[in-house]
This record gives sequence, structure tokens and C-alpha cells, in this order.
Amino acid sequence: MTVRTGFPDLDQIAERIERVPALDQKQLEAEEIALLGRKSGVLTLKAKSLGTLPLEQRKTYGAKVNELKSLADALIVSRRKELQVGVSAALVGGEDLTMPGRRRWVGAEHPVTRVVDEIVGIFRELGFAVATGPEVETEWYNFLALNFPADHPAMDMHDTLYLDAPPAEGEPAGRLLLRTHTSPVQIRTMLAAPPPVRVVIPGMVYRNDAMDASHLPAFSQIEGLAVDEGISFVDLKATLTHFAHRFFSPATKTRFRPSFFPFTEPSAEMDVECQLCHGSGCPACKGTGWMEILGCGMVHEAVLENVHLDPERYTGWAFGMGPHRIALLRYGVPDIRLLLGGDMRFLEAVGRPGMVGGDDA
Ligand code: PHE
Repeated sequence: MTVRTGFPDLDQIAERIERVPALDQKQLEAEEIALLGRKSGVLTLKAKSLGTLPLEQRKTYGAKVNELKSLADALIVSRRKELQVGVSAALVGGEDLTMPGRRRWVGAEHPVTRVVDEIVGIFRELGFAVATGPEVETEWYNFLALNFPADHPAMDMHDTLYLDAPPAEGEPAGRLLLRTHTSPVQIRTMLAAPPPVRVVIPGMVYRNDAMDASHLPAFSQIEGLAVDEGISFVDLKATLTHFAHRFFSPATKTRFRPSFFPFTEPSAEMDVECQLCHGSGCPACKGTGWMEILGCGMVHEAVLENVHLDPERYTGWAFGMGPHRIALLRYGVPDIRLLLGGDMRFLEAVGRPGMVGGDDA
């Protein structure tokens, strides 16, 4: 931009004006006074001097002076704005405060943790306390006290993970192992305090199983145990049916099938109506319309005797279920390994709603 006025003195001033956009704050204030100052600004003086000029010159020269005045004014105003934005930008470290906020990722409960909490919560409402026990167990608690015969195949090296260490002092003799179920905590609970007993026992268990779509070598269980005078199979059925209605839905159908466990007699397995097809049969329930969710039964007399309780006086029931498997049913997950994979797309999809990518930036 080069302004040509046709007057050498005005051309000089025009050049100065053209340099306004490059001035810093201090220079700008000084230049504004030097050009447009009311007393001695050069353009002000030029305007004042118009009266001394011959008439025709006054017209053209005056017009140019006015042009330069408004150009100077416009450039000064816009340079001042520019510098102000620069100042506020510098104050916040060059960040653009007008940009939309970033969402903070707050994470979500793992689906298995959530299932465990919900199940434990339902039993707590019914008056059950929470108990826990060690993951490294002795053969006695894990098998023998639970009425497994000493040559039971579950105790085989192929089925159970043994530790190459002796039991701690004061613990029963025998090999140490990673517990294969939470049932040994039944024994620990009954030895710790006399009935009435009502506990749920969440925890990890370990089996010498290969990993596939429906098996993990390490998975969670929740055990339940109720022991008191006058407890019957009716209490077991009513409690577990109530649980299924609370956890799945009030209309969920349940059924009990006879089964076998060394530590319960009679024993049963409880199925719930398939949560995917609601009973009509689908690949997930292998066309049966039912899904097995837990094993249960009346505490075996031999187990009560092993913990020095009189089976004539006390009866009880127990159950064991697998929250990993239940999480698959609840969220329609086709492969149990997804629960361990740490794939964020999966975890975000099944995470507690409202927890992932919340709006509280
Ligand atoms: N402990 C059994 C299992 O792991 C489940 C179970 C617990 C069955 C309590 C009956 C009573 O398969």
C-alpha cells in the first residue's frame, strides 16, 4: 500500500501512517499524538493551515488531508485492538479461551465389579453380611472339610493349581493350592462363630483350565451361606428366586435342576430364563431357553459335623455363582475373554451409563 497524494509533504505523512500496523503499544500511543494530537499533531496542523492556502489548492489539499486523517484514525484503532487481543492471549499462556472445553474421561466400573456389587447389595438387603477368605488355601479347607473324598478327581494336579510351599504354622497339614471355589470360606465362617450365619462371600478362584470363549483360569465367584435352626430348602428356593427377580427382572422365570456337589445334599443347579431370547431358544442358550447361573443345595450333614455343628439342631443352605459368567448374560457379551482384554471400546460400551465421558469438563 502506497498512498500517493500528489503533495510531497502529505506523501511523507502517508508513509508514516502506513507504518502504524507495525508499531508496538508505546509507539502507537506516541504516533497517535504525533499525527492527530489536538494541539500539535501533524495532520491537525495541516488542517489548520488550510485557511492560508489559495482557494483551489485548499479544496484538493484539504480533501487529501481529511483522507489521511481518517486513514490514520482507522489504522490506529485496528492496531490498538490487535495489541489488546495479544495482551489477553499472553496472559493465559497463548491459549484460546474461546475454544470449547475438553471432556474429562472419568472411567467406569468394570462390568464384573458392577455385577459383584449388585449381587452383594441384593443379599445385604436380605440381612446377609460379607465375608472373605484367602485365595491360597489348604487342601483341608478347599476339599476335605467340604466332604470331597481324598481321592476326588478335582484334587488332581491336572485340575487344581498347587503351590510348592508348606502350609503356615497352625494350619491343617496337606498341600497348599489356589482355591478352586469360594466354598472353603463356608468352613472358615462356620468355624469362626456359631449360627445364625448369613453371609455372602465374593472372591477370585483358580482352576487349571485353558482359556477359551467360556473359560478362564482365574475368575470370580460369590458364595452364599445361611445356617440356623429350622432352615429348609424352601428358604433356599425363595431366597434365590427373589435374587433372580431383583437382579434380572421381576418376570424372570427360574428353575431348579437336581445336581451333585460333595458338600450339599440335596444339590441343585438354578437356571434363569435366557436373557437374550427370553425362553424361545437362541445360540447363546444352545436352544434351551435357559441359562445356568448357580449351584446350590442344603449344607451336607458331614460338613456341619466337620465344623462341630450338630446336624440335628442346625440346617443350612449354600450357593455359588460366577459373576464373570453372569456379566456375559447381563450384557450379552459373546466371549468371556473380552472381560479381561482391556479394550476401551468394549468397556465404554458396557460401562455404567453416565460415567464415561461425562459432561463435567
Ligand atoms: N462351589 C461350587 C462350584 O464352584 C458351587 C456351589 C457352592 C455349589 C455352594 C453348592 C453350594 O461349582
